[in-house]
Amino acid sequence: MGMGISADVFRDAMRRFPGVVTLVTTRDGEDRRGITATAVCSVTADPPSLLVCLNKATGTCVAVGETGHFNVNLLGQEAEDLALRFAGAGGVTGEDKFAQGDWRSDDKGLPYLADALMSLSLDVTERTEAGSHVVYIGQIRSVRFGEGEPLLYEQSAFRALAREAE
Ligand SMILES: Cc1cc2nc3c(=O)[nH]c(=O)nc-3n(C[C@H](O)[C@H](O)[C@H](O)COP(=O)(O)O)c2cc1C
Repeated sequence: MGMGISADVFRDAMRRFPGVVTLVTTRDGEDRRGITATAVCSVTADPPSLLVCLNKATGTCVAVGETGHFNVNLLGQEAEDLALRFAGAGGVTGEDKFAQGDWRSDDKGLPYLADALMSLSLDVTERTEAGSHVVYIGQIRSVRFGEGEPLLYEQSAFRALAREAE
């Protein structure tokens, strides 16, 4: 499409963006849906909002569009296996992804990870199509705080913060 850089160069550039690793989860009838996502960003405190970019090819993207709700679970360092699982490693998909992890239900019946560093329940307020993805802006209905160190992703690998000794 037009001038500009190729998808490969784009990926090479984006690999240098350190990302915080989250699981974006939702519900599709009785089934739960979720994917690993780093395209998650704070939008505004007034009203408290956050955006996620979800690939249209995922069941999670479709289910968020249908229910109008999603949860964001911020992963800790020890949750690397869960991050791989929710990225589709080993071919695990749909409800089967939730066989691992301490999953609970929020007030709308959406799954949240009990030992996440932090998890949010959101209501979709805006939706924009952007190529292969949908950008959903959600208003935060509730927040649950946990503890631990965040899991990061950069140059195609999971990483930890290198904290200076105090
Ligand atoms: C570190 C990492 C970050 C990712 N970030 C996103 C993202 O922000 N949005 C997205 O749609 N997919 C993202 N993905 C890909 C989805 O996790 C993957 O397409 C999905 O889990 C496939 O699940 P399925 O096989 O059940 O459809 C990411 C994958 C990894 C490993």
